[in-house]
Amino acid sequence: MLSRQAKAAFYVVASPLMRVNGWAYRHIWAPRTGDLRVHVGPGQRNYLPGWINVDANMFTGKCDVWANLEDGLPFRDSTADAVYSHHVVEHLPNLDFHFAEIFRVLKPGGVFRVGGPNGDMAARKYIEGNGDWFSDFPVKRSSVGGRYENFIYCRGEHLTILTPSFMKELATTAGFVDLVIVSPKSQTNYPQKFDAAVMALEYESTPEAPHTLLMEGRKPLR
Ligand SMILES: C[S@@+](CC[C@H](N)C(=O)[O-])C[C@H]1O[C@@H](n2cnc3c(N)ncnc32)[C@H](O)[C@@H]1O
Repeated sequence: MLSRQAKAAFYVVASPLMRVNGWAYRHIWAPRTGDLRVHVGPGQRNYLPGWINVDANMFTGKCDVWANLEDGLPFRDSTADAVYSHHVVEHLPNLDFHFAEIFRVLKPGGVFRVGGPNGDMAARKYIEGNGDWFSDFPVKRSSVGGRYENFIYCRGEHLTILTPSFMKELATTAGFVDLVIVSPKSQTNYPQKFDAAVMALEYESTPEAPHTLLMEGRKPLR
């Protein structure tokens, strides 16, 4: 994992270039028609063939479009059929803007599946005193409080706490409907979009008490 200083330096240097690249992609190359599936933040291992993968990390990651999600999504209005995002939104400073961007790029009837660290379950496990539910990543911690802090803030990488009510508020405010919390790896209301290839990217060691909070929703037809 990059140090916070290295990451901050990267964004200072790369942000203007990503802004230009994202703008050019959105206005020149982005598809106008067809089955457009957008995967934000694939990172190093989660590139999805058949999707347009967007990430700021062009060095150790693999992506199709190099862009900063803080500038918005590099796609035209109402052109995407599906947006998938796994353990990315917790890194973004303005989630109202991000959900509004997902809404903007989806076609009417388009769907999203978005998730990240399960702040609700983490709070329950902390109150139960169950340190074993947490890992000791990224900092080696033995106390339940230290592990809870690790999980929520990830050494300063995470900027928010994801809970079902907060996720639903963000999505409802953006205009989405049919919001459902779904289980990682196994549950989707849109299997034609979030198919076996998507499910294979998700990880969950305790399905009965999931570490990832995942929500699906739909842009209304009108
Ligand atoms: C924790 S990784 C998750 C990778 C993968 N989705 C997974 O579930 O394992 C977060 C990813 O989001 C990307 N990311 C974070 N902030 C971003 C931003 N502002 N713009 C574009 N990508 C960003 C990072 O580069 C990284 O690839």
